Amino acid sequence: MGDPGRSAAGGRRLTVVVGVSGGIAAYKAVQVVRGLVVLGHDVHVVPTEAALRFVGLPTFEAISRNPVHPSVWDDVAQVRHVALGRAADVIVVVPATAHTLAKIAHGLSDDLLGTTILSSAAPLVVAPAMHSEMWAAAATVANMDLLRGRGVVVVGPDDGPLTGGDSGPGRLADPDEILAATLAAVVPAAREEARVRDLAGRVVVVTAGGTREPLDPVRFLGNRSSGRQGVALARAAARRGATVTLVAAHLDDDVRRDAVGDDGVSLVEVGSALELREAVVAAAAGADVVVMAAAVADYRPVEVSEAKIKKDDTGDELVLRLVRTPDVLAELSATRRPGQVVVGFASETVTDRDELLELGRRKLARKGCDLLVVNPVGWATGFGSPDTVVLVLGADGAVVGEVAGTKQQAAEVVLDAALAVRAAGALAR
Ligand code: CTP
Repeated sequence: MGDPGRSAAGGRRLTVVVGVSGGIAAYKAVQVVRGLVVLGHDVHVVPTEAALRFVGLPTFEAISRNPVHPSVWDDVAQVRHVALGRAADVIVVVPATAHTLAKIAHGLSDDLLGTTILSSAAPLVVAPAMHSEMWAAAATVANMDLLRGRGVVVVGPDDGPLTGGDSGPGRLADPDEILAATLAAVVPAAREEARVRDLAGRVVVVTAGGTREPLDPVRFLGNRSSGRQGVALARAAARRGATVTLVAAHLDDDVRRDAVGDDGVSLVEVGSALELREAVVAAAAGADVVVMAAAVADYRPVEVSEAKIKKDDTGDELVLRLVRTPDVLAELSATRRPGQVVVGFASETVTDRDELLELGRRKLARKGCDLLVVNPVGWATGFGSPDTVVLVLGADGAVVGEVAGTKQQAAEVVLDAALAVRAAGALAR
Protein backbone atom coordinates (compact mmCIF):
# COMPACT_ATOMS: atom_id res chain seq x y z
CA MET A 1 0.00 0.00 0.00
CA GLY A 2 3.09 2.24 0.46
CA ASP A 3 3.50 4.02 -2.84
CA PRO A 4 0.00 5.17 -3.81
CA GLY A 5 -0.53 6.88 -0.44
CA ARG A 6 2.82 8.61 -0.51
CA SER A 7 2.53 9.87 -4.06
CA ALA A 8 -1.02 11.12 -3.54
CA ALA A 9 0.31 13.28 -0.73
CA GLY A 10 3.26 14.49 -2.77
CA GLY A 11 5.70 12.12 -1.04
CA ARG A 12 5.74 14.13 2.19
CA ARG A 13 5.36 12.78 5.71
CA LEU A 14 2.03 14.28 6.66
CA THR A 15 0.62 15.20 10.03
CA VAL A 16 -2.85 13.70 10.06
CA VAL A 17 -5.44 14.28 12.78
CA VAL A 18 -7.92 11.41 12.94
CA GLY A 19 -11.07 12.39 14.80
CA VAL A 20 -13.15 9.45 15.99
CA SER A 21 -16.74 9.93 17.12
CA GLY A 22 -18.95 7.53 18.99
CA GLY A 23 -20.49 4.98 16.69
CA ILE A 24 -20.12 1.25 16.38
CA ALA A 25 -17.95 1.81 13.29
CA ALA A 26 -15.29 3.39 15.58
CA TYR A 27 -13.37 0.12 15.46
CA LYS A 28 -12.85 0.63 11.72
CA ALA A 29 -11.07 3.94 12.46
CA VAL A 30 -8.26 1.76 13.81
CA GLN A 31 -7.74 0.41 10.30
CA VAL A 32 -7.52 3.93 8.82
CA VAL A 33 -5.03 4.95 11.52
CA ARG A 34 -2.97 1.85 10.90
CA GLY A 35 -2.95 2.44 7.13
CA LEU A 36 -1.71 6.00 7.60
CA VAL A 37 1.02 4.91 10.04
CA VAL A 38 2.17 2.14 7.68
CA LEU A 39 2.52 4.78 4.96
CA GLY A 40 4.87 6.70 7.27
CA HIS A 41 2.57 9.54 8.29
CA ASP A 42 2.43 11.15 11.75
CA VAL A 43 -1.03 10.36 13.08
CA HIS A 44 -2.76 11.97 16.06
CA VAL A 45 -6.03 10.44 17.16
CA VAL A 46 -8.65 12.68 18.79
CA PRO A 47 -11.51 10.51 20.03
CA THR A 48 -14.70 11.94 21.47
CA GLU A 49 -15.79 10.71 24.87
CA ALA A 50 -18.41 8.49 23.23
CA ALA A 51 -15.82 6.98 20.87
CA LEU A 52 -13.86 5.74 23.87
CA ARG A 53 -16.87 3.68 24.91
CA PHE A 54 -16.44 1.69 21.69
CA VAL A 55 -12.65 1.52 21.37
CA GLY A 56 -10.20 1.95 24.24
CA LEU A 57 -7.61 4.68 24.40
CA PRO A 58 -4.63 2.24 24.57
CA THR A 59 -5.66 0.79 21.20
CA PHE A 60 -5.48 4.22 19.56
CA GLU A 61 -2.16 4.98 21.27
CA ALA A 62 -0.62 1.68 20.26
CA ILE A 63 -1.78 1.85 16.66
CA SER A 64 -1.03 5.55 16.09
CA ARG A 65 2.28 5.39 18.01
CA ASN A 66 1.43 8.78 19.51
CA PRO A 67 -0.05 9.67 22.89
CA VAL A 68 -3.79 10.30 22.85
CA HIS A 69 -5.14 13.12 25.05
CA PRO A 70 -8.86 13.09 24.51
CA SER A 71 -9.74 16.13 26.60
CA VAL A 72 -9.26 19.87 26.18
CA TRP A 73 -8.26 19.81 29.85
CA ASP A 74 -5.16 17.68 29.22
CA ASP A 75 -1.93 19.37 28.23
CA VAL A 76 -3.52 22.81 28.72
CA ALA A 77 -0.21 24.71 28.75
CA GLN A 78 0.46 23.48 25.20
CA VAL A 79 -2.94 24.76 23.97
CA ARG A 80 -3.29 21.36 22.37
CA HIS A 81 -6.23 22.03 20.05
CA VAL A 82 -4.48 25.02 18.48
CA ALA A 83 -1.18 23.15 18.18
CA LEU A 84 -2.90 20.13 16.60
CA GLY A 85 -5.08 22.27 14.34
CA ARG A 86 -2.08 24.20 13.06
CA ALA A 87 0.15 21.19 12.63
CA ALA A 88 -2.42 19.16 10.70
CA ASP A 89 -2.00 18.75 6.96
CA VAL A 90 -5.41 17.14 6.90
CA ILE A 91 -8.12 16.18 9.40
CA VAL A 92 -10.34 13.14 8.89
CA VAL A 93 -13.30 12.28 11.09
CA VAL A 94 -14.03 8.56 10.97
CA PRO A 95 -16.71 7.59 11.77
CA ALA A 96 -18.59 10.89 11.78
CA THR A 97 -21.86 10.44 13.65
CA ALA A 98 -24.92 12.61 12.95
CA HIS A 99 -24.23 14.42 16.22
CA THR A 100 -20.59 15.15 15.42
CA LEU A 101 -21.46 16.28 11.88
CA ALA A 102 -24.04 18.67 13.34
CA LYS A 103 -21.46 20.02 15.76
CA ILE A 104 -18.88 20.56 13.01
CA ALA A 105 -21.46 22.20 10.73
CA HIS A 106 -22.35 24.71 13.43
CA GLY A 107 -18.86 25.30 14.77
CA LEU A 108 -19.58 23.82 18.19
CA SER A 109 -16.39 23.28 20.11
CA ASP A 110 -17.11 21.76 23.51
CA ASP A 111 -14.46 19.06 23.13
CA LEU A 112 -10.96 18.60 21.75
CA LEU A 113 -12.16 17.44 18.35
CA GLY A 114 -14.43 20.48 17.89
CA THR A 115 -11.78 22.96 18.99
CA THR A 116 -9.11 21.30 16.85
CA ILE A 117 -11.27 21.46 13.73
CA LEU A 118 -12.11 25.12 14.36
CA SER A 119 -8.45 25.96 14.92
CA SER A 120 -7.34 24.41 11.67
CA ALA A 121 -7.13 25.62 8.09
CA ALA A 122 -6.32 22.08 6.92
CA PRO A 123 -8.65 20.23 4.55
CA LEU A 124 -11.37 18.32 6.39
CA VAL A 125 -12.61 14.88 5.39
CA VAL A 126 -15.62 13.25 7.05
CA ALA A 127 -16.78 9.66 6.78
CA PRO A 128 -20.38 9.55 8.04
CA ALA A 129 -21.84 6.42 9.61
CA MET A 130 -25.29 6.14 11.13
CA HIS A 131 -28.68 4.57 10.69
CA SER A 132 -30.43 5.31 7.37
CA GLU A 133 -33.19 7.30 9.07
CA MET A 134 -30.66 9.57 10.74
CA TRP A 135 -28.78 10.06 7.45
CA ALA A 136 -32.02 10.99 5.67
CA ALA A 137 -33.27 13.29 8.46
CA ALA A 138 -33.81 16.90 7.35
CA ALA A 139 -31.37 18.22 9.96
CA THR A 140 -28.58 15.89 8.79
CA VAL A 141 -29.25 16.72 5.13
CA ALA A 142 -29.03 20.46 5.90
CA ASN A 143 -25.86 19.97 7.92
CA MET A 144 -24.25 18.01 5.08
CA ASP A 145 -25.16 20.79 2.64
CA LEU A 146 -23.44 23.29 4.91
CA LEU A 147 -20.34 21.14 5.17
CA ARG A 148 -20.12 20.40 1.45
CA GLY A 149 -20.65 24.10 0.71
CA ARG A 150 -17.55 24.83 2.76
CA GLY A 151 -15.48 22.38 0.81
CA VAL A 152 -15.50 19.53 3.33
CA VAL A 153 -14.78 16.21 1.60
CA VAL A 154 -17.48 13.63 2.34
CA VAL A 155 -16.65 9.93 1.90
CA GLY A 156 -19.66 7.61 1.86
CA PRO A 157 -21.72 6.47 3.56
CA ASP A 158 -22.21 3.20 1.71
CA ASP A 159 -25.44 1.28 1.27
CA GLY A 160 -25.34 -2.03 3.12
CA PRO A 161 -25.93 -3.96 6.34
CA LEU A 162 -26.18 -1.81 9.45
CA THR A 163 -26.08 -2.69 13.14
CA GLY A 164 -29.15 -4.45 14.47
CA GLY A 165 -29.91 -6.35 11.28
CA ASP A 166 -31.05 -3.30 9.25
CA SER A 167 -29.74 -2.49 5.82
CA GLY A 168 -29.56 0.77 3.84
CA PRO A 169 -27.47 3.91 3.34
CA GLY A 170 -25.46 4.80 6.45
CA ARG A 171 -22.72 2.20 6.53
CA LEU A 172 -19.19 3.55 6.95
CA ALA A 173 -17.27 3.68 3.66
CA ASP A 174 -14.46 1.22 3.16
CA PRO A 175 -11.45 2.22 5.36
CA ASP A 176 -9.11 2.09 2.34
CA GLU A 177 -11.39 4.47 0.46
CA ILE A 178 -11.39 6.84 3.46
CA LEU A 179 -7.62 6.68 3.63
CA ALA A 180 -7.25 7.45 -0.08
CA ALA A 181 -9.69 10.39 0.14
CA THR A 182 -7.78 11.74 3.15
CA LEU A 183 -4.48 11.75 1.30
CA ALA A 184 -6.04 13.12 -1.91
CA ALA A 185 -7.43 16.06 0.07
CA VAL A 186 -3.87 17.19 0.75
CA VAL A 187 -2.90 17.51 -2.91
CA PRO A 188 -2.80 21.30 -3.34
CA ALA A 189 -4.82 21.35 -6.57
CA ALA A 190 -7.60 19.29 -5.02
CA ARG A 191 -7.52 21.64 -2.04
CA GLU A 192 -7.95 24.74 -4.21
CA GLU A 193 -10.92 23.22 -6.02
CA ALA A 194 -12.58 22.41 -2.75
CA ARG A 195 -12.43 26.04 -1.62
CA VAL A 196 -15.69 27.89 -1.73
CA ARG A 197 -16.03 30.79 -4.17
CA ASP A 198 -18.51 32.63 -1.99
CA LEU A 199 -17.20 36.08 -2.98
CA ALA A 200 -17.69 35.53 -6.73
CA GLY A 201 -19.00 38.71 -8.38
CA ARG A 202 -18.08 40.84 -5.34
CA VAL A 203 -15.65 43.75 -5.31
CA VAL A 204 -13.31 43.89 -2.34
CA VAL A 205 -10.85 46.67 -1.48
CA VAL A 206 -8.14 45.99 1.08
CA THR A 207 -5.48 48.37 2.42
CA ALA A 208 -2.21 46.95 3.69
CA GLY A 209 1.18 47.97 5.00
CA GLY A 210 2.21 51.12 6.81
CA THR A 211 2.18 54.67 5.50
CA ARG A 212 5.30 56.82 5.63
CA GLU A 213 5.04 60.53 6.25
CA PRO A 214 7.98 62.38 4.71
CA LEU A 215 10.05 64.81 6.75
CA ASP A 216 12.53 65.62 4.03
CA PRO A 217 13.72 63.87 0.84
CA VAL A 218 15.50 61.15 2.84
CA ARG A 219 13.51 60.72 6.05
CA PHE A 220 10.04 59.74 7.10
CA LEU A 221 7.87 58.89 10.09
CA GLY A 222 6.69 55.31 9.70
CA ASN A 223 5.56 52.21 11.53
CA ARG A 224 6.42 48.53 11.70
CA SER A 225 3.52 47.10 9.70
CA SER A 226 4.72 44.47 7.20
CA GLY A 227 1.47 44.31 5.23
CA ARG A 228 1.25 40.55 5.80
CA GLN A 229 -2.30 40.55 7.19
CA GLY A 230 -3.64 42.86 4.48
CA VAL A 231 -2.05 40.82 1.71
CA ALA A 232 -3.42 37.61 3.23
CA LEU A 233 -6.88 39.22 3.18
CA ALA A 234 -6.56 40.37 -0.42
CA ARG A 235 -5.36 36.97 -1.58
CA ALA A 236 -8.02 35.08 0.37
CA ALA A 237 -10.74 37.32 -1.11
CA ALA A 238 -9.39 36.73 -4.63
CA ARG A 239 -9.30 32.97 -4.03
CA ARG A 240 -12.90 33.12 -2.91
CA GLY A 241 -13.83 34.72 -6.23
CA ALA A 242 -13.80 38.48 -5.54
CA THR A 243 -12.37 41.20 -7.77
CA VAL A 244 -9.75 42.65 -5.46
CA THR A 245 -7.92 45.97 -5.28
CA LEU A 246 -5.07 46.10 -2.78
CA VAL A 247 -4.04 49.60 -1.78
CA ALA A 248 -0.60 48.99 -0.35
CA ALA A 249 1.83 51.21 1.50
CA HIS A 250 5.41 50.02 1.85
CA LEU A 251 4.95 46.28 2.08
CA ASP A 252 7.89 44.18 3.28
CA ASP A 253 9.72 42.73 0.27
CA ASP A 254 8.60 39.11 0.71
CA VAL A 255 5.01 40.19 1.34
CA ARG A 256 5.07 42.43 -1.74
CA ARG A 257 6.33 39.52 -3.85
CA ASP A 258 3.28 37.48 -2.76
CA ALA A 259 0.95 40.33 -3.69
CA VAL A 260 2.55 41.00 -7.07
CA GLY A 261 2.60 37.28 -7.87
CA ASP A 262 -1.16 36.90 -7.33
CA ASP A 263 -3.05 37.43 -10.59
CA GLY A 264 -6.33 37.90 -8.73
CA VAL A 265 -5.12 41.03 -6.92
CA SER A 266 -4.72 44.51 -8.53
CA LEU A 267 -2.05 46.39 -6.65
CA VAL A 268 -2.16 50.17 -6.17
CA GLU A 269 0.93 51.38 -4.36
CA VAL A 270 0.85 54.48 -2.20
CA GLY A 271 3.27 56.19 0.17
CA SER A 272 1.65 58.55 2.67
CA ALA A 273 -1.65 58.65 4.56
CA LEU A 274 -3.00 61.30 2.16
CA GLU A 275 -2.10 59.19 -0.88
CA LEU A 276 -3.69 56.13 0.72
CA ARG A 277 -6.86 58.10 1.43
CA GLU A 278 -7.15 59.25 -2.17
CA ALA A 279 -6.62 55.75 -3.58
CA VAL A 280 -8.95 53.94 -1.19
CA VAL A 281 -11.78 56.48 -1.44
CA ALA A 282 -11.66 56.15 -5.25
CA ALA A 283 -11.58 52.33 -5.13
CA ALA A 284 -14.25 52.10 -2.43
CA ALA A 285 -16.84 53.79 -4.66
CA GLY A 286 -17.67 50.50 -6.35
CA ALA A 287 -16.79 48.10 -3.53
CA ASP A 288 -18.97 45.65 -1.63
CA VAL A 289 -16.41 45.22 1.14
CA VAL A 290 -13.62 47.59 2.25
CA VAL A 291 -11.05 46.32 4.73
CA MET A 292 -8.73 48.88 6.31
CA ALA A 293 -5.87 46.64 7.42
CA ALA A 294 -3.19 49.28 6.79
CA ALA A 295 -1.46 51.04 9.64
CA VAL A 296 -2.21 54.60 8.62
CA ALA A 297 -0.20 57.37 10.29
CA ASP A 298 -2.33 59.43 12.64
CA TYR A 299 -0.03 62.47 12.25
CA ARG A 300 2.15 63.87 9.53
CA PRO A 301 4.75 66.64 9.66
CA VAL A 302 3.21 70.09 9.13
CA GLU A 303 6.10 70.96 6.87
CA VAL A 304 8.09 68.76 4.55
CA SER A 305 11.54 70.18 4.01
CA GLU A 306 12.56 70.41 0.35
CA ALA A 307 16.18 69.85 1.32
CA LYS A 308 17.68 67.38 3.78
CA ILE A 309 17.36 68.68 7.33
CA LYS A 310 20.90 69.43 8.58
CA LYS A 311 22.12 69.19 12.17
CA ASP A 312 23.98 72.46 11.73
CA ASP A 313 20.61 74.14 11.28
CA THR A 314 18.65 72.24 13.95
CA GLY A 315 21.20 72.02 16.79
CA ASP A 316 20.94 69.59 19.74
CA GLU A 317 17.18 69.32 19.78
CA LEU A 318 14.76 68.98 16.91
CA VAL A 319 11.09 69.62 17.54
CA LEU A 320 8.74 68.31 14.88
CA ARG A 321 5.33 69.86 14.44
CA LEU A 322 2.78 67.28 13.39
CA VAL A 323 -0.79 67.61 12.24
CA ARG A 324 -3.58 64.98 12.26
CA THR A 325 -4.16 63.02 9.09
CA PRO A 326 -7.74 62.39 7.97
CA ASP A 327 -9.29 59.32 9.58
CA VAL A 328 -9.95 57.31 6.45
CA LEU A 329 -11.83 54.52 8.20
CA ALA A 330 -14.23 56.92 9.90
CA GLU A 331 -14.76 58.72 6.59
CA LEU A 332 -15.45 55.48 4.71
CA SER A 333 -17.86 54.35 7.44
CA ALA A 334 -19.72 57.67 7.40
CA THR A 335 -20.09 57.72 3.62
CA ARG A 336 -20.71 54.02 2.90
CA ARG A 337 -23.61 53.16 0.68
CA PRO A 338 -26.29 50.66 1.71
CA GLY A 339 -25.01 47.09 1.64
CA GLN A 340 -21.34 48.09 1.70
CA VAL A 341 -19.40 46.52 4.56
CA VAL A 342 -16.55 48.51 6.12
CA VAL A 343 -14.02 46.67 8.27
CA GLY A 344 -11.43 48.34 10.50
CA PHE A 345 -8.41 47.04 12.37
CA ALA A 346 -7.11 47.96 15.78
CA SER A 347 -3.70 46.87 17.00
CA GLU A 348 -3.43 47.45 20.71
CA THR A 349 -0.56 46.98 23.14
CA VAL A 350 -2.59 45.17 25.79
CA THR A 351 -2.80 41.43 26.26
CA ASP A 352 -5.65 41.16 28.74
CA ARG A 353 -8.74 40.02 26.83
CA ASP A 354 -11.19 42.23 28.68
CA GLU A 355 -9.02 45.30 28.26
CA LEU A 356 -8.57 44.46 24.59
CA LEU A 357 -12.33 44.16 24.14
CA GLU A 358 -12.93 47.41 25.99
CA LEU A 359 -10.45 49.33 23.81
CA GLY A 360 -11.87 47.68 20.71
CA ARG A 361 -15.44 48.59 21.58
CA ARG A 362 -14.51 52.21 22.20
CA LYS A 363 -12.66 52.38 18.88
CA LEU A 364 -15.58 50.73 17.11
CA ALA A 365 -17.93 53.40 18.42
CA ARG A 366 -15.51 56.15 17.32
CA LYS A 367 -14.99 54.76 13.83
CA GLY A 368 -18.56 53.63 13.10
CA CYS A 369 -17.51 50.63 11.02
CA ASP A 370 -19.41 47.32 10.62
CA LEU A 371 -16.62 45.13 11.97
CA LEU A 372 -13.45 45.82 13.93
CA VAL A 373 -10.61 43.31 14.02
CA VAL A 374 -8.73 43.74 17.27
CA ASN A 375 -5.30 42.25 17.84
CA PRO A 376 -2.71 42.54 20.59
CA VAL A 377 0.74 43.71 19.48
CA GLY A 378 3.97 44.47 21.27
CA TRP A 379 7.66 44.99 20.69
CA ALA A 380 8.10 41.34 19.82
CA THR A 381 4.67 40.28 18.66
CA GLY A 382 2.27 41.05 15.88
CA PHE A 383 4.17 42.88 13.14
CA GLY A 384 5.81 40.79 10.46
CA SER A 385 4.94 37.45 12.02
CA PRO A 386 2.98 34.86 10.01
CA ASP A 387 0.86 34.18 13.10
CA THR A 388 -1.64 36.36 14.83
CA VAL A 389 -4.33 36.52 17.47
CA VAL A 390 -7.49 38.42 16.55
CA LEU A 391 -10.94 39.08 17.92
CA VAL A 392 -13.56 40.26 15.43
CA LEU A 393 -16.16 42.60 16.87
CA GLY A 394 -19.56 43.20 15.26
CA ALA A 395 -21.11 46.68 15.10
CA ASP A 396 -22.78 46.08 18.49
CA GLY A 397 -19.45 45.16 20.10
CA ALA A 398 -20.18 41.41 20.29
CA VAL A 399 -17.34 39.00 19.46
CA VAL A 400 -18.32 37.44 16.12
CA GLY A 401 -15.03 35.72 15.33
CA GLU A 402 -11.84 34.69 17.04
CA VAL A 403 -8.58 33.27 15.72
CA ALA A 404 -5.24 32.27 17.20
CA GLY A 405 -3.48 31.03 14.12
CA THR A 406 -2.02 32.13 10.84
CA LYS A 407 -2.80 35.47 9.23
CA GLN A 408 -4.39 33.48 6.42
CA GLN A 409 -6.79 31.85 8.88
CA ALA A 410 -7.56 35.27 10.34
CA ALA A 411 -8.22 36.55 6.82
CA GLU A 412 -10.76 33.80 6.15
CA VAL A 413 -12.58 34.52 9.43
CA VAL A 414 -12.72 38.27 8.71
CA LEU A 415 -14.13 37.59 5.23
CA ASP A 416 -16.67 35.15 6.70
CA ALA A 417 -17.76 37.86 9.14
CA ALA A 418 -18.03 40.47 6.35
CA LEU A 419 -20.21 38.09 4.35
CA ALA A 420 -22.38 37.48 7.41
CA VAL A 421 -22.87 41.25 7.82
CA ARG A 422 -23.88 41.52 4.15
CA ALA A 423 -26.31 38.63 4.49
CA ALA A 424 -27.85 40.14 7.64
CA GLY A 425 -28.15 43.53 5.88
CA ALA A 426 -29.85 41.92 2.87
CA LEU A 427 -32.34 40.19 5.17
CA ALA A 428 -33.11 43.43 6.97
CA ARG A 429 -33.82 45.31 3.72
N1 CTP B 1 -7.04 54.49 10.23
C1 CTP B 1 -7.46 55.31 9.20
N2 CTP B 1 -6.96 56.57 9.10
C2 CTP B 1 -6.09 57.04 10.00
C3 CTP B 1 -5.68 56.21 11.07
C4 CTP B 1 -6.17 54.95 11.16
O1 CTP B 1 -8.26 54.89 8.39
N3 CTP B 1 -5.63 58.26 9.87
C5 CTP B 1 -7.64 53.14 10.33
C6 CTP B 1 -6.65 52.00 10.28
O2 CTP B 1 -6.47 51.53 8.97
C7 CTP B 1 -7.36 50.95 11.14
C8 CTP B 1 -8.13 51.76 12.14
O3 CTP B 1 -8.25 53.08 11.58
O4 CTP B 1 -8.28 50.20 10.38
C9 CTP B 1 -7.55 51.84 13.50
O5 CTP B 1 -6.44 52.60 13.53
P1 CTP B 1 -5.80 53.10 14.91
O6 CTP B 1 -4.58 53.88 14.58
O7 CTP B 1 -5.65 51.94 15.81
O8 CTP B 1 -6.98 53.99 15.46
P2 CTP B 1 -6.96 55.40 16.07
O9 CTP B 1 -8.33 55.95 15.95
O10 CTP B 1 -5.88 56.20 15.46
O11 CTP B 1 -6.73 55.12 17.61
P3 CTP B 1 -5.38 55.20 18.48
O12 CTP B 1 -5.55 56.41 19.30
O13 CTP B 1 -5.43 53.91 19.25
O14 CTP B 1 -4.23 55.29 17.52
